[in-house]
Amino acid sequence: MGTSDELARRIEETLGRMTLEQKCALLSGGSAFTTRAMPRYGIPAMQFSDGPHGLRLQAEGANHLGIGGSRPATCFPTAATVANSWDPGMGEALGRALGEECLAQGVNVVLGPGLCIKRSPLCGRDFEYFSEDPYLAGKMAAAYVRGIQSTGVAACPKHFAANSQETRRQASDSVLDERTLRELYLTAFEIVVRESGPKCIMSSYNLVNGTYANESVRLLTDVLRGEWGFDGAVVTDWGGSNDHIAGVRAGSTFEMPDPGLSPVRELTAAVRDGRLEESVVDERVREALGVILPTCAATASADDAFDVGDHHAIARDVAANSIVLLKNEATEQGGPILPLATGTRVALVGDFASVPRYQGAGSSLVNPTRLDTLLGCVGCSGLELVGFEPGYERHGDKDDAKAAAAIDLARRAEVVLLCMGLDELVESEGMDRDDMRVNQNQVELLRRLSSANPNVVVLLSGGAPVECDWADDARALAYLCLGGQAGASAALDVVCGRVNPSGKLSESWARRLADTPTAKTFPAGGHVAAYREGPYVGYRYYQTAGVPVAFPFGYGLSYTRFEYSRPRVAADVVTLSVTNVGRRAGAEVVQLYVSKPKREVFRPEQELKGFAKVFLEPGETKGVTIALDDKAFRYFDVGTGSWEIERGVYELRVGASCEDIRLRAQVELAGTGAKNPYEGLDLRSYETGRVKEVTDAEFAALLGRPIPQERATIDRNTCFCDLIHGRSPLLWLLWSIFNLLRRAGERRGVPNLNVLFIWNMPLRALAKNAGGVFSMAAVDGLVMEAKGFWVIGLLRMLVGIVANMVRNAVQAGRLAREVT
Ligand code: BGC
Repeated sequence: MGTSDELARRIEETLGRMTLEQKCALLSGGSAFTTRAMPRYGIPAMQFSDGPHGLRLQAEGANHLGIGGSRPATCFPTAATVANSWDPGMGEALGRALGEECLAQGVNVVLGPGLCIKRSPLCGRDFEYFSEDPYLAGKMAAAYVRGIQSTGVAACPKHFAANSQETRRQASDSVLDERTLRELYLTAFEIVVRESGPKCIMSSYNLVNGTYANESVRLLTDVLRGEWGFDGAVVTDWGGSNDHIAGVRAGSTFEMPDPGLSPVRELTAAVRDGRLEESVVDERVREALGVILPTCAATASADDAFDVGDHHAIARDVAANSIVLLKNEATEQGGPILPLATGTRVALVGDFASVPRYQGAGSSLVNPTRLDTLLGCVGCSGLELVGFEPGYERHGDKDDAKAAAAIDLARRAEVVLLCMGLDELVESEGMDRDDMRVNQNQVELLRRLSSANPNVVVLLSGGAPVECDWADDARALAYLCLGGQAGASAALDVVCGRVNPSGKLSESWARRLADTPTAKTFPAGGHVAAYREGPYVGYRYYQTAGVPVAFPFGYGLSYTRFEYSRPRVAADVVTLSVTNVGRRAGAEVVQLYVSKPKREVFRPEQELKGFAKVFLEPGETKGVTIALDDKAFRYFDVGTGSWEIERGVYELRVGASCEDIRLRAQVELAGTGAKNPYEGLDLRSYETGRVKEVTDAEFAALLGRPIPQERATIDRNTCFCDLIHGRSPLLWLLWSIFNLLRRAGERRGVPNLNVLFIWNMPLRALAKNAGGVFSMAAVDGLVMEAKGFWVIGLLRMLVGIVANMVRNAVQAGRLAREVT
């Protein structure tokens, strides 16, 4: 698209020719995944597509969650998996490949990566997010964005901000103190914005402290655009616009998906009657054109093919480098069971070996170009396959016949490769998990198999941690996470030692759900999601409160061993040497944690502030340098409203996981001199980190205001799942139908995503999601109906719909004539 000056001139010139109505029409979607084309001004329709780990470009006529109808694309490992590589280089390669597929498929904006912080392992969408730690999440997301945008298309990191649960995701209010918001939930976005310059950001569905994220002047204007210098377009999540005028005023550019023309009329009227400055609309149009024009130019001149084989190989490489070896014990012969030697006689057991779990469900679901399975690939791995048995019912109960066949097979093999994991029912957008267990029939099978043959290697699939109290029954445990379409061959690469595992956990694995800091509060069933645990998420909690975990953050084994030596701290870097003291080449993830042993302002025991991945041949030593950046020592001070540094001695801890600290050094800092903002407040639980015992008084003190109460009103923001509390028999019936469909999906083992979406959807989203049928006036009719004004409500809704459709048709015809 030429230089940025040329682009700026073109934008101004186009803006100068557009009418107010046309400008407003550019700010909302024209179809489920495109903006409106205005050929007269040379403005093409910009194509969005999910998702974070592969494209989901939908076939003609498909709806928002019209799963299955998408064009084939490479299904890369999901973000939760790639984060375990701790390798931004992998993220960048994956991003570049995604960008190339965009060019080939005419996609201008990829709706990803997703970098919400994993507040609880139960979030149904954790598989799509990177980490519990903002530093790691931000760095990995920035790598994806650099890769994607290197091809000329745009990335759209999501969901901004504090969007950590799926239950009631479209209208829940994330209530949290400013410091936690800044340090945990915003820092990842800060890194991605400052370090990779994404062209778009997706605002989240939820409210943050009482204001919809998409309408938050504080978040979108002050922080995102003001402090971090974001100059791209903000895109609402699909149907996430509550008050379009408030959104545009706050800095939100595109309202998606296709709300029809009623928001255009609302926006035009707001400018005409003086509620909104036209200059604000102009600013949003500049942002819109700033993405549309260059990204459409990039796709217009691109080839319509990509190298399917090459991208499959990238997917395999990334997956293999993201596998985390959690356990690798010695066999009776002496050495660790993995890697398996060529010719080892293996029994392949587990339904996932033939029907793999390789991605999550929801808007990120990719229709893969190929699909490797363990059963299909084991023949080429060098292992000798004795046989395969599914062993258990994927979604069902114990099946003795299947288990008996598997045990019989196990007796005939040297090693059993047992595929365990979470099934597709439990991990999906739109719902949260109830527990952290894998199906009991798998656990039972493992126990019985290991008595028949102690050499059981468990290959665990699933996008989130599970309770591993069964792990003693396995000789080895490799966490594949969700490895994408080449995940199975990647697993065999590691099992056979072609790839030395180098993944480290990007999330702590609690021993049991009850140990997690949010065990009693997640997910919030009502409107208010109170982040009572404050900054004590993941290892920040376990390490401060002294709660033992099954596998700590940053943990992962290798087939070799590394030694760390010669730490040095200069002004803004930590340097050290790492030596591979084993007999195999391999990579190590060196992690830097910062701690302040004597602290006045409470903070977690230690926090990740840097990392580096280094590849070493056997016997090789390399120097590693980790920068101490502006985030190394800071905390967000609610008193001064800015980042401060407490004076005193800090410990820099270099380790192979958050628990395995190998080197320590100290630095003394003068600090910025701010006084402790919490002085005089009783925040004992936050000082000890024992945040499961936070009292209401403590949480209110941390918030600096009373804890918001649940709302019990019926209004535009009442969700479909709450219609049962309304007063309309018609809507009770509707509720019952949705409830039945939802449960039927659960029983079938295939969550009905459209139903789940509607279940958590507020009534007002009908005006944004229903293809322009509803206007807000029609929604208001529905609200009256729910309040018990049966006849008037229904009539008002129907009249609203008809009036809206007539007005839309007339206006669409006129607009089309003007802009074509
Ligand atoms: C999801 C987004 C996704 C969008 C479009 C929403 O329901 O939250 O992550 O990009 O749908 O499919």
